[in-house]
Amino acid sequence: MSSRRELLLEEMGLTPIWRVRTRQVESGTTVADAQYVPAAAGRGETAAPAAAQSAIDADERGANIARMDWTELRPTVAACTACGLRKTCTQTVFGIGDEKADWLLVGEAPGAEEDARGEPFVGQAGKLLDAMLAGIDLKRGDDVYIANVLKCRPPGNRNPEAPEVAKCSPYLRRQVELIRPRLILAMGRFACQTLLDTDSSIASLRGRAHSYQGVPLIVTYHPAYLLRSLPDKAKAWEDLCFARSTMADLRAQS
Ligand code: URA
Repeated sequence: MSSRRELLLEEMGLTPIWRVRTRQVESGTTVADAQYVPAAAGRGETAAPAAAQSAIDADERGANIARMDWTELRPTVAACTACGLRKTCTQTVFGIGDEKADWLLVGEAPGAEEDARGEPFVGQAGKLLDAMLAGIDLKRGDDVYIANVLKCRPPGNRNPEAPEVAKCSPYLRRQVELIRPRLILAMGRFACQTLLDTDSSIASLRGRAHSYQGVPLIVTYHPAYLLRSLPDKAKAWEDLCFARSTMADLRAQS
């Protein structure tokens, strides 16, 4: 095999590459061994390149989380130190509500009050969220589950960073798989962009149903943003009405 091809494969994490091993014989000359050994072993290396190895580790971690039930997932999240946020927060905020809910609401990350109480959306933004839910005859915990993209509060409520989102996302993905909601309402830019894997703005994503893991997903503004931006409250109300009618359609179909 050409060394260029060998290097390319190695860079892609596709080692081991099989190559003929040479060995010393008694006379001191080297001969081709009858057996083949992995090229990496032949060079005294045991691991894939660092970038490839961390991708393998992330896949394995994701696969482990994807096998967990609620009784494993909760303590795993509580004990998680995969990113640096656990060092600065008080506790993890797992999520709350009906584990068989039709509605899953997803926010960004715990704030100060959520961090203190261990429950999502219990501060000012949470009060507005409860009022918004009441507007479409919903109540937290009653056919509704509420979770965040990040389970730990970023210090000073700063924006989540990409590596933190990447480490925490398998937990939310598993929550979605376990709940199997009929509809996800993603609230705010981070939740929408993370779940839809896009850079698009909320304004451009509103008004139609998207999909996350096969579950219909509707986007709307974050309640904390709505506290500061009254004009967009009317748009959020439109989003909620759209979500309610989509849910009615989904129920009628089943
Ligand atoms: N903002 C969020 O996104 N989530 C919370 O739990 C609280 C505020």
